[in-house]
Amino acid sequence: MTSSATAEAHPNIALVKYWGKEDDVLNIPSSPSLSLTIDRLSAHTRVLPGSDSFLLNGELVQDPKTRAWTDRIRRELHLPAFGIESSTNFPVGSGLASSAAGFAALVTAVDSAFELGMSDAERSRWARLGSASAARSIFGGFCALEPRDGDCETSALFGRSHWDLEVVVAVTSRRRKPVSSTEGMVRCKETSPYFASWLQSCGEDFAAMRPAVASKDFEHVGEIAESNCLRMHAVMMGAVPPLVYWNATTLAVIDSLVLLREAGIRVFYTIDAGPQVKAVCADGSGAFVRERLRKVPGVLEAVLCRVGEGARVKGN
Ligand code: PMV
Repeated sequence: MTSSATAEAHPNIALVKYWGKEDDVLNIPSSPSLSLTIDRLSAHTRVLPGSDSFLLNGELVQDPKTRAWTDRIRRELHLPAFGIESSTNFPVGSGLASSAAGFAALVTAVDSAFELGMSDAERSRWARLGSASAARSIFGGFCALEPRDGDCETSALFGRSHWDLEVVVAVTSRRRKPVSSTEGMVRCKETSPYFASWLQSCGEDFAAMRPAVASKDFEHVGEIAESNCLRMHAVMMGAVPPLVYWNATTLAVIDSLVLLREAGIRVFYTIDAGPQVKAVCADGSGAFVRERLRKVPGVLEAVLCRVGEGARVKGN
């Protein structure tokens, strides 16, 4: 290790979601997904020589996922111990893709600190081993993640200049979610009667989403994204015991977005494994939508984001 290195990465928002693993160790999703990386929310991660401690937002933490990841990369690439200092400007573990941003920033910092010269595909593979959705945050713009022949392929579909969408992230709780994505996926696979049909529908949604994003067909993208999101939550609610990631404000935000759409604003929503709502907006209406969502009782914060860049080195 020549010196420390710091990298920045952003969360990505899946328009066609991944929920279910074919391989729990290699983190290979059972179905293809398609996302857009956002800006504004970010993880800054510094890798430095010395002890193998992990400082997250100023607190020393023992995170089994991060520990397994660092053990693995050190073993496979013969690296010495290194410390990690990571900070995020948004709540972690609450459905805002903090692990996606975190692992994408971490591998980018490790690559730089140890001068490993990884390709984007290699960084994406390493990020995926931490958290499958992190594979997509290596890239800016629109990205696909597809299981293929017992492995996985990530493709940068369109850069951030392809489409000037805005995303308003409505934060409805800063608490950590009670059931992690990994645990939730296992529970759904084992107990939800809707799991098999969910996987099949993801293949169909993915096939339809790609050309819809390519042709910037906002209405079609919104239709596919909303029904894909609601189907994922139906699978979760059908699990035993049921998994309900929403709170009352989640529904209130959906309601106000539907009213805005009825009034002619081009907007659609999506929700991940947590109670936060992401409103995707066309026509530069993001600031207006943010003001509306801020006024919904229970919304703690509404952040206006644009399509963002991929993970990158920020210095030492
Ligand atoms: O990569 P994970 O384990 O954080 O799971 C991500 C799951 C969703 O955010 C709900 C969907 C997705 O494709 O990002």
